[in-house]
Amino acid sequence: MGDVDPTLLLQAAAGRVRDPVSGRSVWMAEMVRSPRSKGDDLHVELVFQAAHSPEARETIRKELASHLTALGMKGRLMALDTGATPGLAHAHERPKDPVPGMTGAGVAPHGGPIAKKRVEGVRHVILVASGKGGVGKSTVSANLAVGLAQLGYGAGLLDADVHGPSAPILLGDPSRPAADPVRKKILPVVAHGVRMLSMGQLVSADEAMIWRGPMVMGAVRQFVQDADWEGLDYLIIDLPPGTGDAQLTLLQAVDGISGAVIVTTPQEVALADARRGVTMFRKLDLPLLGLVENMAWYELPDGTRDPVFGDQGGLRLAAEVGTQVLAQIPLQTAIRLSCDVGVPVVLSNTPTGRAFMDLARQVAALLP
Ligand SMILES: Nc1ncnc2c1ncn2[C@@H]1O[C@H](COP(=O)(O)OP(=O)(O)O)[C@@H](O)[C@H]1O
Ligand SMILES: [Mg+2]
Repeated sequence: MGDVDPTLLLQAAAGRVRDPVSGRSVWMAEMVRSPRSKGDDLHVELVFQAAHSPEARETIRKELASHLTALGMKGRLMALDTGATPGLAHAHERPKDPVPGMTGAGVAPHGGPIAKKRVEGVRHVILVASGKGGVGKSTVSANLAVGLAQLGYGAGLLDADVHGPSAPILLGDPSRPAADPVRKKILPVVAHGVRMLSMGQLVSADEAMIWRGPMVMGAVRQFVQDADWEGLDYLIIDLPPGTGDAQLTLLQAVDGISGAVIVTTPQEVALADARRGVTMFRKLDLPLLGLVENMAWYELPDGTRDPVFGDQGGLRLAAEVGTQVLAQIPLQTAIRLSCDVGVPVVLSNTPTGRAFMDLARQVAALLP
């Protein structure tokens, strides 16, 4: 299929095929799942409903194939019908295993086989997760990565929050990654001593917003697999917020994850979501390194601490689930400003800067 990512090709083609039942494109109707390439051929599942007549199914299959060919796909489209199938016309044999070494590991968040990929040449892959968005997951990821670099380790930051990328802003470098045509590798941007890749470097926020599961997975897979992380001690992955299918699929696609850090605020609603994060990692047998309690308090001018989002919620949750709090980070204008100007607060010799450095030290000690 040449060098074109099959998931990108598939989205383009499926976006042009109208589904007569929903009136939307078969892509928007989420009828195309689990793309896998096998040689030049592209295997997908087409999810039909009972209302799809055998003729409608055949038309969709043919149109999809012809759009793919028009877009430059060399092989054939191998479509497997799934979903409600009273009018099942073509029952192709279902592939039993994911194809080893396949290029299109993009898998819809609805399940399907997953090809695990190790991140080449990286000593430890560390996930930073949160149950909720907006709790400071990206801020913690960026400061942890820069802190590790400050300690002299080779550190990388992979911003996998495709729908809300922020690493280029947080590290103050909006430039695009280069490609090494000889080694066929994406070269991460280096900012504050950290190798960084983010969807924010490649597409506009509006564009990324409408990406669906398979495309997101395709992009993340490329970041994991096709980028030059060689020689890093620590690669920090800033996960999309939440504990749903998208996160699960992503976690299952990366092999050799050393541990995870969960970011939460002390607020009850955030803690409830963080608890789900703990459960998710335990189910996947991924070691939980600990929690980071962000926005733990607001410091008043006289030095007293106002627990805006509740008091010691992170510590309570840590005790409840049997883990530790690695850092308590206050709610501070300085942090917000440091994010906006792209100079992580960990670089400052302030109590908060030292708290983030201490977080980096603890993580390095937990994963030597
Ligand atoms: N401790 C803090 N004090 C002040 N502002 C913060 C703090 N942590 C994060 N922020 C700000 O809150 C917003 C959300 O943080 P972010 O790290 O992007 O969250 P997430 O990645 O979880 O969505 C950002 O604008 C960030 O600058
Ligand atoms: Mg974020």
